[in-house]
Amino acid sequence: MKILGIESSCDETACAIVEDGKNIISNVVATQIPFHQVYKGVVPEIASRKHAEWILPVVRQALREAELSLDDIDAIAATNRPGLMGSLLVGLTFGKTLAWATGKPFLAVNHMLGHMYAAHLVNDIQYPYIGLLVSGGHSIIAKVNSFDDLEVLGTTIDDSVGEAFDKVSKFYGLGYPGGAVIDRIAKDGDPKSFSFPIAKLDKGDDGEHRYDVSFSGLKTAVIHQADMFLKKGYEKTDANICAAFQETACRTLITRLFRAVEDTGIRTVVAGGGVAANSRLRALLAERTDINCIFPPLKLCGDNGAMIAGVAYQFLKRGDRSPLDTTACARIPQFKRGLANLEHFGRR
Ligand code: KG4
Ligand code: ZN
Repeated sequence: MKILGIESSCDETACAIVEDGKNIISNVVATQIPFHQVYKGVVPEIASRKHAEWILPVVRQALREAELSLDDIDAIAATNRPGLMGSLLVGLTFGKTLAWATGKPFLAVNHMLGHMYAAHLVNDIQYPYIGLLVSGGHSIIAKVNSFDDLEVLGTTIDDSVGEAFDKVSKFYGLGYPGGAVIDRIAKDGDPKSFSFPIAKLDKGDDGEHRYDVSFSGLKTAVIHQADMFLKKGYEKTDANICAAFQETACRTLITRLFRAVEDTGIRTVVAGGGVAANSRLRALLAERTDINCIFPPLKLCGDNGAMIAGVAYQFLKRGDRSPLDTTACARIPQFKRGLANLEHFGRR
């Protein structure tokens, strides 16, 4: 079964064709980075306009690269939440219209379910596992029972980890988007040069925030108070700041992640989202040889249509369809701790 998946929740216009939730036949990602770079962050109105301009050529290119026509496609899928409203609406409306015009089934897909599924496109992974969803908008630690059943154990109480990378990079004028830039610059720095604080949310970390993370204190320390945390004998260079910030951000995530592993006894961890591309995060997890850590390939960490088509296949296999009056949602309350199972993520 071949599914055409559209992704337009933020600043990538993307379309992929995936067979049976696994075999990626084509995967086109048109990045808008050059258009937002000058503003050092995503400008929602520019993003929507670029999506509107690019969606048709990107979908056509995905079909061309797959050497398929629309007749060969069994279903159409598009991201409908969460993300920038104007951006989501372009891909969602395009996908629904295409499904309506061709009479094919339509599937609306939750972007975060997509990120969680990315590693499944290239690995056979058994449920349950502990999911680490780290992107520009989210930092979630979850017990993942199936492709659309995530029990959120912990989340950020303020900024997401990706946002912290982006803001630190913006403040020091290092470039946009910040994650990849900091990852690269950090390679020449010493992670021990600053001792930035890891936020402790509960006394002894045994309370209700046991798996939660916080990045706004770290962000403030790195941006406004770096001198206070500089260790003797070190210089305040971009490389040192990046290395120490990245180290602290990654350790913040993994302390909570390892807690979830120990508490649940589930020893498989699957990562997803843009920050899952981070080389230090990957290295730190690889050190834990007692845990089976699975990362998507770099190309599938960021936003793409293949992960959307992959999730859609699982819905379709179960007999689900999304109605054509499915709407877009900028935010999803279910990502708050404990609320995850009130409703299946991917459904309307
Ligand atoms: O998943 P994604 O492409 O979009 C969202 O759903 O938000 O994630 C984008 C985020 C950005 O904050 C970006 O700076 C971050 O992922 N990112 C990274 C790396 N590559 C991208 N963060 C840390 N290290 C990286 N190598
Ligand atoms: Zn994303």
